[in-house]
Amino acid sequence: IVRKVIIAGNWKMYKTQGEAAEFLMEFIPEIDNVPEDREVVLCVPFTDLTIVNKSLHGNRIRLGAQNVHWEDCGAYTGEISASMLTEMGVRYVIVGHSERRQYFGETDETVNLRLKAAQNGGLIPILCVGETKQQRDAGAVEQTIFAQLDRGLEGVDLRRLVIAYEPIWAIGTGETCEAIEANRVIGIIRDRLSDPQVTIQYGGSVKPSNIDEIMAQPQIDGVLVGGASLAAGDFAGIVNYK
Ligand code: G3H
Repeated sequence: IVRKVIIAGNWKMYKTQGEAAEFLMEFIPEIDNVPEDREVVLCVPFTDLTIVNKSLHGNRIRLGAQNVHWEDCGAYTGEISASMLTEMGVRYVIVGHSERRQYFGETDETVNLRLKAAQNGGLIPILCVGETKQQRDAGAVEQTIFAQLDRGLEGVDLRRLVIAYEPIWAIGTGETCEAIEANRVIGIIRDRLSDPQVTIQYGGSVKPSNIDEIMAQPQIDGVLVGGASLAAGDFAGIVNYK
């Protein structure tokens, strides 16, 4: 089985259009030699979609968003629909990131609705799952992730899905999950799915200095990068891993 390798940056709520343009000027010359079978994705704020879409470098970069609503249109102030995103050139969308679960009341049920809407609208969702430090210390890693997967994935097409395993304690903390441990948990996630082909990424304090070890793990098919995707040099170092 050859699974697709996807290296995605999640800019979160960073970068104005001007800052995005600066990033691209520096980043694009650095990715000419990235192997063809490696997909490079930038999940950017809605306001940066246009400018990034103009600079996809002959489609070498794929465009991603960070959220999508489950209805196609309607009175949902502040939300964005799948058709609005695809029209902007968006291919991927992050769904259920821990920051959305923690700060914006996202639940496995709303995650499930968003996943299905993304797929129905022609987008490939990147579903984020992962445990808190407390859940890990209580020995509840599997239980937590299985609940997120089982509820989140009801009725979702696994052939048009990416999963990102992001242990919450490793996000933005500089404390990376050991590559071997990430590999173990991702193996468990894979066993839970009925389709072994799903691309499963690791996310949490990925940087140029640890990417080689992470990507050397047999279960890990890519990474979802937060902080280190904001600096063009760092993200270029990551997409050009050995
Ligand atoms: O979506 C990305 C993750 O939240 C990882 O963020 O690389 O800053 O730890 P980080």
